[in-house]
Amino acid sequence: MTHYCIASDHAGFRLKETLKSYLNSQGHQVQDLGTDSEESVDYPDYALKVVGHIKAEQDSVGILICGTGIGMSIAANRYPGVRAAVCNEGVRSAVLARQHNNANILCLGARLIDEKIALETLQAFIDTPFEGGRHQRRVDKLG
Ligand code: RB5
Repeated sequence: MTHYCIASDHAGFRLKETLKSYLNSQGHQVQDLGTDSEESVDYPDYALKVVGHIKAEQDSVGILICGTGIGMSIAANRYPGVRAAVCNEGVRSAVLARQHNNANILCLGARLIDEKIALETLQAFIDTPFEGGRHQRRVDKLG
């Protein structure tokens, strides 16, 4: 069973709660690594928490939310083995991030994405397997 972990900064807090409830309602185990309110915090601290979790739990999936998703992705992608994809465009980005990039962290921007699209995007990210093949060679080059 895939294990999920989720974190956000203050800007992403509400959307984090929504996505967490959605995953729970589907029977998924989700580890919530904060933040716990809309009080201002620094997104790199929360990106690092999810990265730590991804490293410890093989094949786990991370979800990071900030205002744009961009800060979270920049922070998370500093670490080897992390492939964090900003998918504010929606389902198509999530599908391709999984199929081609084997993305292991979904980043969303709570200030940019509609809640319904965010849920559809999360579902697509969960449902879509990595295609492997020529994409494996490319992913291997990322380190
Ligand atoms: C916080 O105001 C905002 O800068 C942050 O959530 C994020 O969008 C940064 O990339």
